[in-house]
Amino acid sequence: MKIDWENLYPVDGLILDRMSFAADRALACEGIAMDCLIHVCLCDDETISGINREYRGIPSSTDVLSFPSVDYPVGQTAGSNEHLLRMEYDDQTGACFLGDIFISVPHMRKQAAEYGHAELREACYLLIHGICHLMGYDHIKPEDKERMREMEEKILSEISVSRDDQPDSVDDTLLMLAREAMKNSYSPYSSYPVGAALHCTDGRIFTGCNIENASFGLTNCAERTAMFKAVSEGARGFDVIAIAGKTKPWPCGACRQVLNEFAPDIRVIVTWEDHVEEKNLHELLPEGFGPDSM
Ligand code: THU
Repeated sequence: MKIDWENLYPVDGLILDRMSFAADRALACEGIAMDCLIHVCLCDDETISGINREYRGIPSSTDVLSFPSVDYPVGQTAGSNEHLLRMEYDDQTGACFLGDIFISVPHMRKQAAEYGHAELREACYLLIHGICHLMGYDHIKPEDKERMREMEEKILSEISVSRDDQPDSVDDTLLMLAREAMKNSYSPYSSYPVGAALHCTDGRIFTGCNIENASFGLTNCAERTAMFKAVSEGARGFDVIAIAGKTKPWPCGACRQVLNEFAPDIRVIVTWEDHVEEKNLHELLPEGFGPDSM
C-alpha cells in the first residue's frame, strides 16, 4: 500500500513503519493484489474536530475519521469489487486511491493509556480500523460490526501486535522487519535469502535484502542495501541492525567494514529459524579500520 503521509503531529518512526506494514497486510487480508494509495493525516484534536464538524456536522473530537473514495454495493467490500477500485487508478501515483484517514495523535495516546497497551498497538489499530472503512466495512448493524471486527483482528494478528501485547521493543520490530525484508531477496544463484532492518538514531528504519547478479561479484548484501538506502536518504547515525537468514547470518567482511564506517558501536542482532543472537560490531570487527584510523 502506498501511503501519502501528512504528519501534522510528530510520531515515532518506528510506529509509522509498523503502520505502513499494517496497511500492506490489510490489502493482503482483503485479497487485493493491486497497488492502492491512501492519504493518512496524523493530527491534533482541534484539526480532527474541525474535520468532523465540516464533513459530518459533529462538532467534537474523535480518534479516527475515514472518507472512502469508492462507493461499494451494500454489504460488499473491496476484495469483491476490484473493478470499482480500478476506476480510482491514477497514472501519476501508479495506484488506486482508496480514500483519506485522519487520526488524532493525542486521542490515540490517551486511548493507549486507558487500555493499558502500547501506543504502537493503538496507532496500528486506528489505521486498520480506518482502512477497513475505506475497504467497505462498517459497524452500524451487528452482523456488519462482527465482520469488521473479524477483519481487524485478522490484520492485527498478522502484524504481531495483539491486544495483550506489551509495548514492542525496537529490537522486536527490527527482527520482524528483517524477516519481512528477506522475502524480497533476489537470490536465484545462491538460493540464500537475507533480510536486514537498520535503526537510525533519528528513529527511522531502513530495510534491505540481498540482490544478486549474473556476474556474481556484483551481488549486494542485505546489510549494505539497507545501509546505502539509509545513507542516501540523509541518515548518518545508526544504533542497531537486525539480520535474518536461513542459517546464522553474521554479516560478511565487506558488510562489517561498511557498518564500521558509519556506526562502529552498532549492535548487530541475527535471527534464523526461531533463534536470535546479538553481538557488538567491535566483537565482529576487532581493531577495525575506519574514519578515525587515518
Ligand atoms: N549475504 C548477505 O546478504 N549478507 C551477508 O552478510 C552475507 C551474504 C548474501 C549475499 C548472497 O546473495 C548470499 O547471501 C550468499 O552469499
